[in-house]
Amino acid sequence: MKKIKYIDEVDIKNKKILLRVDFNVSLNPDSTIADDARIRQSLPTIKYLLKNNNRLILVCHLDRPKCRDPRYSVKIVAKKLQEYLPEFKVKVIDDLLNDNDKKRINQQEENEILFLENIRFYRQEKDNNYQFAQTLASLADFYVNDAFGVSHRNDASVTGVPQFMPSYGGLLLKKEIGTILKIIKNPKKPVVVILGGAKVSTKTDLINRLMEMGDYLLVGGAMANTFLAAQGFNLGKSFYEKEALEEAKKILFKAAQKNTVIVLPSDAVIGNPQEEQNGNNIFKIDNLPPNANILDIGPETQAKFGAIIAKAKTIIWNGPVGYFENPLFRRGTDFIYYAITQNQQAISLVGGGDTLAAISKKEYLDKITHVSTGGGAMLEFIEKGTLPGIEALKQ
Ligand code: ADP
Ligand code: 3PG
Ligand code: MG
Repeated sequence: MKKIKYIDEVDIKNKKILLRVDFNVSLNPDSTIADDARIRQSLPTIKYLLKNNNRLILVCHLDRPKCRDPRYSVKIVAKKLQEYLPEFKVKVIDDLLNDNDKKRINQQEENEILFLENIRFYRQEKDNNYQFAQTLASLADFYVNDAFGVSHRNDASVTGVPQFMPSYGGLLLKKEIGTILKIIKNPKKPVVVILGGAKVSTKTDLINRLMEMGDYLLVGGAMANTFLAAQGFNLGKSFYEKEALEEAKKILFKAAQKNTVIVLPSDAVIGNPQEEQNGNNIFKIDNLPPNANILDIGPETQAKFGAIIAKAKTIIWNGPVGYFENPLFRRGTDFIYYAITQNQQAISLVGGGDTLAAISKKEYLDKITHVSTGGGAMLEFIEKGTLPGIEALKQ
């Protein structure tokens, strides 16, 4: 059987290594790094490979530029990496397709870490262009994927390159796969899943999969609106997906069959998204004013969710339960985070780009069993048990 090998299971010494990392960090409006967890999480892999006298050529993307655009240069993350590795020289290579730069890569010195410019500057990356992947592969002896967060993408630097060279998984990839599999394979019951976010339609498969695992499904955020509308509540002007109503009904029906308890909000904070003053307009769901716009779960719902979270043995959370971008409507999300961190008997798994951005009190993060560096990748991994980038490493 084809199997993935990780770098600590093989002998890799004195080689040139093309290392795919996910340094797609969230940036502040002034373009400084808001949270460098994704960089820190790959340091064990980087240090391990360096310790064994390997030379590293790092590949990563930043955001979603469609072409070369200096606003998305990797210089900012390269600089951060340099701070963590003062004994090495981190050098950004501007254009891997340029002959001079190629020569420069070939002349890499022992104490240098080369960092290729944002791989999404090349449209061949998203196209998973065969030749482009081959060119990337030609730069090194081995390929290592430590980029769990982007392993759900069928991109040249994720699934293309491994076709051309011996390829291995990094230590972060190993940790993400191992920990998440352990949590979802044989979870201790009761399993409580908390889902939020905006849409049901993009997460239907995931919800169906989570229903197999979960004893309780606590649904908040705009996603809950679609379920409430499917149950016939009048939600005023609140956002919900009309085209997902039938799917929502099916999910509610299936949950009843499977004895999974879906808990929906019974009250809500309403307002307008730009509101600056009043975050205390609380109404029961069955008694909403005609122009209501639901932006957060209310205190009664918090209490209900909180009691279930407190008894959980396994907790999986994805998706903010309110419009957290406005601090007036982030109390529900803060509460969920707090409730999870207060249950120290439970194994907890939290991920999702917006979910992590919504967590304000980072000091409790170590109370969560596993904070995944993946957003979309974590969800797809929970749903399917594997990812294209992981499959590509099986040789
Ligand atoms: P993640 O990235 O963690 O997987 P999603 O992308 O699914 O999460 O959802 C996050 C988005 O959902 C946020 O932009 C948040 O503001 C929005 N959202 C959650 N609840 C509401 C709500 N009640 N009204 C409007 N937007 C909401
Ligand atoms: C992420 O931020 O979830 C990963 O870096 C993947 O980025 P993408 O959604 O732009 O492919
Ligand atoms: Mg999101």
